[in-house]
Amino acid sequence: MSHFVPLEVSVFDAAFTLDPYPFIEHLYEQEEVLGFTSEGMNFCFRFEDCHDLIAAHKNVAREPVSVDEAANKLFSENYPARAWHYQYSLTDVKAKALLGRYLTMLLDKLRVDDIERAFSRFRQSGRHDDYMIEVRLLPMRMLLSAWGFTYTDAQLTSLYDDSVALVKSFEHFDNEAMLRKGDEAMSRTRAYVAEQFNNAPAGTLLDEFSRASREAGFDDNDGIASLVTFVQSTPNTLSVSTALMLRNIMRYPDAVAPLRENPDRVSESIIMEFLRRDNHVKALSRQVHNSFTLRGKDLAVGDSLFIFYPGVNMDPTHWDAPLTLNFKREFTRDNHNIFGGSRYSCIGSRIALKYFSYVLPSMLANVDKGSRLIKEEIEVDGEWIAERVITKLPILVP
Ligand code: HEM
Repeated sequence: MSHFVPLEVSVFDAAFTLDPYPFIEHLYEQEEVLGFTSEGMNFCFRFEDCHDLIAAHKNVAREPVSVDEAANKLFSENYPARAWHYQYSLTDVKAKALLGRYLTMLLDKLRVDDIERAFSRFRQSGRHDDYMIEVRLLPMRMLLSAWGFTYTDAQLTSLYDDSVALVKSFEHFDNEAMLRKGDEAMSRTRAYVAEQFNNAPAGTLLDEFSRASREAGFDDNDGIASLVTFVQSTPNTLSVSTALMLRNIMRYPDAVAPLRENPDRVSESIIMEFLRRDNHVKALSRQVHNSFTLRGKDLAVGDSLFIFYPGVNMDPTHWDAPLTLNFKREFTRDNHNIFGGSRYSCIGSRIALKYFSYVLPSMLANVDKGSRLIKEEIEVDGEWIAERVITKLPILVP
């Protein structure tokens, strides 16, 4: 019967966040190990198990198992914005389809000049460690502009900080301070998006979306909820993955050398390989709704576990030499879970691929091959599970 074993380090430890593989490598060969335990939480980490969990979404879902009306009422009273149904668009198929259609249109409106400005700094020799704020804001700047949102730099920074506060509150239902911050963050984001939704300049995608949402019979509150989901998902996802991509460009100079010579060679599968090796998604929770057997272990209704995505993306029984950046790997529809799957498929995958199709060549062209990371000084933000933000990634350019 398989079981969970203790991880010898905290999942919150920056060393584990930045390089989890050495801590879990030995577990893959132990067939009876279903996962690891840390900080009171259980994590599954194998490709095959994750595949089974994703396929079994009717038994193992993200939503809580039981709806405790009294507890929900109290939560809504204490954290009204956090309790607001901003993820409505993900549970309503029609709303998700409408948002998806507009996200596809968004792809052609991305402006790339901001990217070059962010990365051309690396053409200067010396130490660079004050650039992360600009890299962090880059995806939001590009995507909000493409929609036709208007913003000041201060608003952009505030939206970014609010997105972080919100994600931190996802997996911490017992942490009053994080929930409070998440609630305040959502309240500000909602007010900003509602204001933009109602005053979208004519001719913008945002204006078209507001009209289409109303014409399709959605209440304004629901149209706004769809956009809030998008706005709050954008910054962490793309910016943390950008920082990790930058790190891997410097960690694997030999693998990257042919790309540097010809950055135009960057293709979807090359971007996927970078994202497989490392991306912002760390652990996402699941609740057992109907009893279910995983790797021979019976999971009972009410059990809770996390999918540890870096473990899945580097499972050596599925990926040959998983630590290596190998641009010959072939990604098919279902031989990876980089963007999740089935009911919880990523709504931003096309945007991510398009964004990196501009960002990766710019990084390759601007970051000299002799540049190196000052590893000892990399900093990671806080004790949160779903995603971890790199706040400092000092680089030395010769
Ligand atoms: C670096 C690129 C990205 C990667 C690797 C990635 C990965 C993932 C993964 C693994 C999931 C599945 C979650 C689960 O199993 O519970 C997911 C879901 C999701 N992603 Fe992404 N993502 C990326 C970019 C984005 C972007 C740019 C956005 C928004 C613009 C976004 C928005 C979302 C949302 C809203 C969900 C939840 C979908 C649902 O529940 O229906 N992601 N993503």
